[in-house]
Amino acid sequence: MSETVVEVNQVTFCRKQRTILSDVSWRIEKGRHWALLGANGSGKTTLLKLICGYEWPTFGSIHVLGRRFGACDLRHLRKLIGWVSSAMCHQLPGQDTALQVAASGLEASIGLYRTFDTEELDKARRLLSHLGAEHLAEQRYGTLSQGEQQKTLIARALVSEPKLLILDEPCIGLDPASRERFLRDLDEFAARDDAPTMVLVTHHIEEIRPWVDSVLMLKNGQVLAAGQPAELIRSETMGQLFNCHCVVGQGDNGYWLRMEMAG
Ligand SMILES: Nc1ncnc2c1ncn2[C@@H]1O[C@H](COP(=O)(O)OP(=O)(O)OP(=O)(O)O)[C@@H](O)[C@H]1O
Ligand SMILES: [Mg+2]
Repeated sequence: MSETVVEVNQVTFCRKQRTILSDVSWRIEKGRHWALLGANGSGKTTLLKLICGYEWPTFGSIHVLGRRFGACDLRHLRKLIGWVSSAMCHQLPGQDTALQVAASGLEASIGLYRTFDTEELDKARRLLSHLGAEHLAEQRYGTLSQGEQQKTLIARALVSEPKLLILDEPCIGLDPASRERFLRDLDEFAARDDAPTMVLVTHHIEEIRPWVDSVLMLKNGQVLAAGQPAELIRSETMGQLFNCHCVVGQGDNGYWLRMEMAG
């Protein structure tokens, strides 16, 4: 029987008298990789924050890796989840070095609260190096460029060898070559037997590679559709999702989308 990594059960999330997510249910099985799509403000990051335990559902329940939030050690659970998000970029301590920030993923902590041994720092350094960012290891995080910060966050998410890897617009700020290298690394990573279950949020459907086998579409905080990419990444569904006319196709390099704006 397949193992459930995330189970979101009829979750509603309200803030300041506004319903941001409404009756969302989503089950992620181990080894199934998802893309999460939706317009700006549709609730994607909020849903991921709930899954990582940074926010709490108003109604409904969430289980991650067999544990229910509220009935387990949140810090332990967070170590099993790697999270790359630009929402996190500014929360990290600017005075720490890129290497320290990358290593802090070992404790899933924002800011350091223990020192890391040589082996742990070497692991963080290897990940930075793999992303072409080893030369930044000793530079203060706050002085890095956007793309350099993003690479540091990616290393931070991977260093704890998570069971669930959440990539919330991971290519933001990456230059074209870095983006392509990163996407290829992800292709390789996804093919590994020990790969974590992955969730990719993106506004660019060309970043949805063949290893993505399911898609969840959120519209105004509700699930519009869930299914296979071949069923959902089509002109009609994408048009419905973004309230526009668009043409979606698939070429040798994956999906592409062309907008057809009125007027
Ligand atoms: N703490 C909060 N208080 C009030 N409103 C909030 C809060 N957090 C999120 N929102 C609102 O909830 C909605 C969903 O936000 P969210 O960040 O989840 O969107 P998103 O789908 O990730 O969008 P984007 O594609 O722009 O990243 C937005 O309209 C946002 O303004
Ligand atoms: Mg977001």
